[in-house]
Amino acid sequence: MFQSKLNHILACHPIIKTDIIKGNNAYLFDSDGNKIIDFESGMWCTALGHNNSKINEVISQQAGKIINTHFKLSGDVSQVLAINLLGLLNFNDGKAVFLSSGSEAVEFGIRISKLISQNHKILTFSTSYLSAFPTTSLPRNENLWIQIDFLQCNNCTKTKCTTECKVLKHINFNTISTFVLEPGSSSGRVLFPPDRLVKFLSENVKKHGGYVVVNEVTTGFGRTGEWFGHNHYEINPDIVVLGKALGNGYPVSAVIMTDKIASEVEGKKFSYAQSHQNDPLGCVIANEVIRIFKEENIIQNSREKGEFFLYQLHDIKSSCSVVKDIRGRGLMIAVELSIPNSAELIFEKMLNKGYFIGTTPAWNVLRFFPPLTISKDDIIKMCKELRKQLKELEKTVS
Ligand SMILES: Cc1ncc(COP(=O)(O)O)c(C=O)c1O
Repeated sequence: MFQSKLNHILACHPIIKTDIIKGNNAYLFDSDGNKIIDFESGMWCTALGHNNSKINEVISQQAGKIINTHFKLSGDVSQVLAINLLGLLNFNDGKAVFLSSGSEAVEFGIRISKLISQNHKILTFSTSYLSAFPTTSLPRNENLWIQIDFLQCNNCTKTKCTTECKVLKHINFNTISTFVLEPGSSSGRVLFPPDRLVKFLSENVKKHGGYVVVNEVTTGFGRTGEWFGHNHYEINPDIVVLGKALGNGYPVSAVIMTDKIASEVEGKKFSYAQSHQNDPLGCVIANEVIRIFKEENIIQNSREKGEFFLYQLHDIKSSCSVVKDIRGRGLMIAVELSIPNSAELIFEKMLNKGYFIGTTPAWNVLRFFPPLTISKDDIIKMCKELRKQLKELEKTVS
């Protein structure tokens, strides 16, 4: 059982600190006033930092007007948000629906693509995290899912994928309704699928009557140094799913689709209504998030800071034998350690020094997904402490 001091909160995951009471940009503060630098940006949501004053302002303005409407009633703020997002994705005549969580939006995207395809199976990468809901979470039902382990492509020297390849020959594209692409696996090891494989799968799924659903819940909104994670690939998605940074911590998610998909779904008289669908508060927040991203040049900022961060980490790797690998795109970064079970130890030591970093103990990985607004100074300070801790770790094994 997971341990926590919160004895009335269901223990279904670890809670290691129960006195966090405030945030400010990349900082968290506990009830004793201690400052922690948050390299996980909430749960990868607060891309524009905690307690963002511009977002707080629109929240309080909208809260003074209206938060929730019946699904049969609406203002036009959801339409404004749809137009904004469709423009960012070049889906100009498409449509959008706004929901409450990334999990719900991923499931919705898969559901509508299955609805309009003649095929029934879902293709994805085995490393992808798709949602907390049963259909999409691990282990995935083999009658429904086809999964590819793209790490098998690591030593491949071919410039193009073919159906003869041993990784791909079991795939019958005629059965696939949906290719759910996570353009960078966030939850486990932080791995990025190869360009040629993503292109090959997308093209073949579409050619055989299936659709490409891109799960941008984590990779969207500048996390990888582009607006969307799929911008690193040569593909044309049919449906794009957003969450997390869209609301900067407020629970709003989106499913955005091309006009072709929208008219097919509407043609099937698809019905879906939940209590917070297209809620005005979430939509107002998301519109402000987009405005800030544009006004403050957040995408370029993320790209530059990501490069700067990776440079610092590679410098650590060059002098620390315990660093096995460094992977990253924008501010979505992982450091894999070579000493078994050491990631958890480093995580604890870093927290004691005031740095909250991510960890995936099963893969011995440290993860860094800070707010895109973090300062270079905070990156430098954290890297200095990390180097110290890794050097200490090195001494224990030499
Ligand atoms: C890639 C990805 N997809 C989907 C989800 C599910 O989103 P949510 O936790 O908002 O339901 C997550 C959450 O971490 C995620 O990282």
